[in-house]
Amino acid sequence: MLKVRELRAGYGGVDVLHGVDLDLAEGESAAVVGANGAGKTTLVRAVCGLLAPSSGRIEVDGQDLARLPGHARVKHGIAVVLEGRNLFPELTVAENLRVAQEAGRRSGRRIFSREEILSLFPVVAERLDTPVGLMSGGQQQMVAIARALLLQPRLLLLDELSTGLAPKVVREILAALAHLRGRGTSLLLVEQSIAIAAEMTQRGYVMSVGRVVHRIEHGGWAATVEDGTLLKAYLHG
Ligand SMILES: Nc1ncnc2c1ncn2[C@@H]1O[C@H](COP(=O)(O)OP(=O)(O)OP(=O)(O)O)[C@@H](O)[C@H]1O
Ligand SMILES: [Mg+2]
Repeated sequence: MLKVRELRAGYGGVDVLHGVDLDLAEGESAAVVGANGAGKTTLVRAVCGLLAPSSGRIEVDGQDLARLPGHARVKHGIAVVLEGRNLFPELTVAENLRVAQEAGRRSGRRIFSREEILSLFPVVAERLDTPVGLMSGGQQQMVAIARALLLQPRLLLLDELSTGLAPKVVREILAALAHLRGRGTSLLLVEQSIAIAAEMTQRGYVMSVGRVVHRIEHGGWAATVEDGTLLKAYLHG
């Protein structure tokens, strides 16, 4: 469903991505791994439309979205959970969710009901009237994922979902992602943790200095992790 070709993007006229190619089939999950500064977040921002690419194509079902703004890409089924989450801390959980719910309704897709989303994250359901800023980092991450799901995505991008969170919370979030995978949602994970990437995804892209330098094909994670050389070379051990 997603086909990225020759994607270049950066900041202030200087490219950070130097021609990235990436594919994701319908219902497939893949991880993007790489050292700090490799361009992973830049890739996520360019795919979801928060950053205008300088050139290249971002096709969803054969249609090039590279020149469309973010809200138009939401209509095509792309949603993102960013590093830092971009929630409104003074607003309640329900208020943070409301706009996304409306946008999801306008998309015309009806993949996830509000009930299904809240059942994935009981703590979010219990805290609808709580200002988001009073919640823990893990709970905020769950709100951010719930918000993205209300957009009725077919493709969900997640940037560093596990960073800084307690292992128990990470497990809960991964269980929710496993549910999404079972529901046919395509997932693109940017991960620091190779263990999580290997557990949650079928394929991988190793990035270095704005390029995909290695592809881990279907079923290839185990051998890649066992061998270790590749990951050591590109992730600084
Ligand atoms: N807003 C910005 N303005 C200018 N340069 C930026 C900006 N954001 C990132 N960069 C630069 O772009 C390059 C890639 O950064 P990016 O955040 O995409 O890397 P990353 O792979 O996500 O790293 P990390 O693992 O630390 O999150 C880096 O050299 C970084 O300094
Ligand atoms: Mg990043």
